[in-house]
Amino acid sequence: MEFSDQLASDAAATAALIDDILRTDQSSAQRLREAMIHAAMSGGKRLRAALVLGAARLSNDGSQQPGALRVAAALEMLHAYSLVHDDLPSMDDAATRRGKPSCHVAFDEATAILAGDALQTMAFGILADTRTHSDPAVQTRLVAALASASGLAGMAGGQMLDLQGEVRQLDVAEITEMQSMKTGALIQCATICGGIVGGADHRLLDALGTFSRDFGLAFQIADDLLDYHGDAVTLGKPTGQDAKRAKGSFVALMGAGEARATAHRLIDSALAVLAPWPQAGYLKYLATFAIARKS
Ligand code: IPE
Ligand code: IPE
Ligand code: MG
Ligand code: MG
Ligand code: MG
Repeated sequence: MEFSDQLASDAAATAALIDDILRTDQSSAQRLREAMIHAAMSGGKRLRAALVLGAARLSNDGSQQPGALRVAAALEMLHAYSLVHDDLPSMDDAATRRGKPSCHVAFDEATAILAGDALQTMAFGILADTRTHSDPAVQTRLVAALASASGLAGMAGGQMLDLQGEVRQLDVAEITEMQSMKTGALIQCATICGGIVGGADHRLLDALGTFSRDFGLAFQIADDLLDYHGDAVTLGKPTGQDAKRAKGSFVALMGAGEARATAHRLIDSALAVLAPWPQAGYLKYLATFAIARKS
């Protein structure tokens, strides 16, 4: 299978599972369920899911355990929650997401906050489940990894630094830290959790961690470049927002050309880390895609 077909197939399988989990949950809060479906089922590249599944297959001689798809769904739910809250008027105040009205526009602000909350807790519930892995110790490792990647030292903390960066100019080190936290942490978590559920040994887990650290940073630089000169229709979200809000980014600090060169350097070093693994073609493809993408 071509790697691009593999990405499409991984995305479709993950979406189908998320849809199934959201629709079969026994809750009478239908409006909340609809908002969660809106947030988690409106497309998206499903890159974090692909990283989970690619790392899991690499760790397990190319075959895929059924639990890996559940880990992929959990990571995409956590990510969808982060986008719902990121778009809120009190944060980036963005009216469109994935080519549709943002969750708070399609529903209302309170519902969007709750949809984010419930997507987040559902992600942890999926990881702490015997259908994801029969060994409770593995479930705990997955939960702990997602908890630290999402919280104070990870995504939420990075979002705080991002907002503070709107009022005070950040230097290169501060931007690197903010972007590693707000975006890199979840991308790294997806890759490492794929390794954990796939049974990777320590050497491979270390390599996956280094690979995805550079990948995550490059991914956010690519996002900032697309905000700077991408097409809003192709992207499915507004452009020019970072300059308008004076966000700290490599693009703002060093210009688009140098920011792009930095992203390429990071991806080159990510690819080099996986050189000893000839079966890592898919993960390498995802890394190249991360900075070549138009959406
Ligand atoms: C957008 O992430 C937000 C960032 C962390 C940069 P993606 O570009 O992965 O968004 P989707 O999931 O494809 O919509
Ligand atoms: C988002 O960064 C990071 C998150 C944790 C959601 P951005 O604010 O740049 O993401 P977009 O451009 O709105 O997707
Ligand atoms: Mg933001
Ligand atoms: Mg945003
Ligand atoms: Mg952005």
